[in-house]
Amino acid sequence: MAELFAAVEIIAAKRDKHEISDPQIDWIIDAYTRGVVADEQMSALLMAILLNGMNSREISRWTDAMINSGERMEWSALDRPTVDKHSTGGVGDKITLPLAPLVAACGAAVPQLSGRGLGHTGGTLDKLESIPGWRASLSNEEMLSVLQTCGAVICAAGTGLAPADKKLYALRDVTATVEAIPLIASSIMSKKIAEGTGALVLDVKTGVGAFMSDPDRARELARTMVELGTRAGVKTLALVTAMDIPLGLTAGNALEVRESVEVLAGGGPSDVVELTVLLAREMLQAAGVKSDLDPADALKNGTAMDHWRRMISAQGGDPDAALPVAKESMEIVADSDGELIDMNAMKVGIAAWRLGAGRSRQGEKVQAGAGIEIHAKPGALVREGQVIFTLHTDEPDRFARAQEALEGALRISNTGQKVARLPLIVDRIEG
Ligand code: URA
Repeated sequence: MAELFAAVEIIAAKRDKHEISDPQIDWIIDAYTRGVVADEQMSALLMAILLNGMNSREISRWTDAMINSGERMEWSALDRPTVDKHSTGGVGDKITLPLAPLVAACGAAVPQLSGRGLGHTGGTLDKLESIPGWRASLSNEEMLSVLQTCGAVICAAGTGLAPADKKLYALRDVTATVEAIPLIASSIMSKKIAEGTGALVLDVKTGVGAFMSDPDRARELARTMVELGTRAGVKTLALVTAMDIPLGLTAGNALEVRESVEVLAGGGPSDVVELTVLLAREMLQAAGVKSDLDPADALKNGTAMDHWRRMISAQGGDPDAALPVAKESMEIVADSDGELIDMNAMKVGIAAWRLGAGRSRQGEKVQAGAGIEIHAKPGALVREGQVIFTLHTDEPDRFARAQEALEGALRISNTGQKVARLPLIVDRIEG
């Protein structure tokens, strides 16, 4: 059968800063998924989009075309509204782990399809896979059953969900075209809309440890995604939040699970608790759930922990099993007395990755116990020789490269000097 368009004409149109039409977008996404449009042609189009952008009609149609490349899930069998959260990723960002069971404990259903980490930010599935027995891959029937019995499920997206995005994302990764706002927004939102959630809260990270370090670019990404969700009938809002320093006191898979369990037990670092409770309130409001139980109380009274234990067990995990611990550790100490005024999230993320907590190629294995414990955060007064980081890995030859990554990560001042910090919540964007 003859093809409707020639890829080269669509590439030339975007190269010359013209709009591409709805039928052209539908065709190119479908033809690329079918293998009719070659990788080199799609690479050229992606670069033209990165350089020349897309308007909101084009972004919306591009998103729809990616949704239509696969299945659309639906949760009408559930007796309560669905709501999900998506974070654009950051260092120490383990919020999904306590958040999903917490929101379930307060009355909404949370169907959370998550990913594995690539680069310096960790992936939720890698973190949960450090729990002995826990299984990320579920069939759609198993997903529904876990949601019905536990109120929340965190699992891998199946191959049937937005397959065009899977192919495009892999291509963007190797062609320096990840950073385009229209491509990021359509990639994230196609999966979230296809997942079938009724409401969605986006946590768009900004600061040196985030993918969108500039707050204005993060706001633009947030607005673009909120617009896409709202147009698709999903109640969507976004918080733009700080990722200039790591979140919490751990970065690394099992270390972050341990910290999440501390939060579910009513303790944990104050920034993790604050963001978890705030996102939970936003999710419940977006889902239209009026709960008698406030999320802060559900962390204190054990109901969120009960939901976590059920959710982990339902996916084969043992919530009581000891978490893996790395074989080797090394301490990094303060080199002077003074106030700790900065801790570079990107450098900490890269160090954790080099210790084995993250992967540099898709499919690579990660170490469950690898990562970094943080013993002091900016604002603390420290003494020369005081331990600031403990590095963990199974392979001691990784320490040198991690130490290299941490060079200049800390700033200690004894002159009262301050570093401008981002507030935890930078902005809130609603549809
Ligand atoms: N996460 C995604 O799913 N897609 C992107 O493009 C970027 C981050």
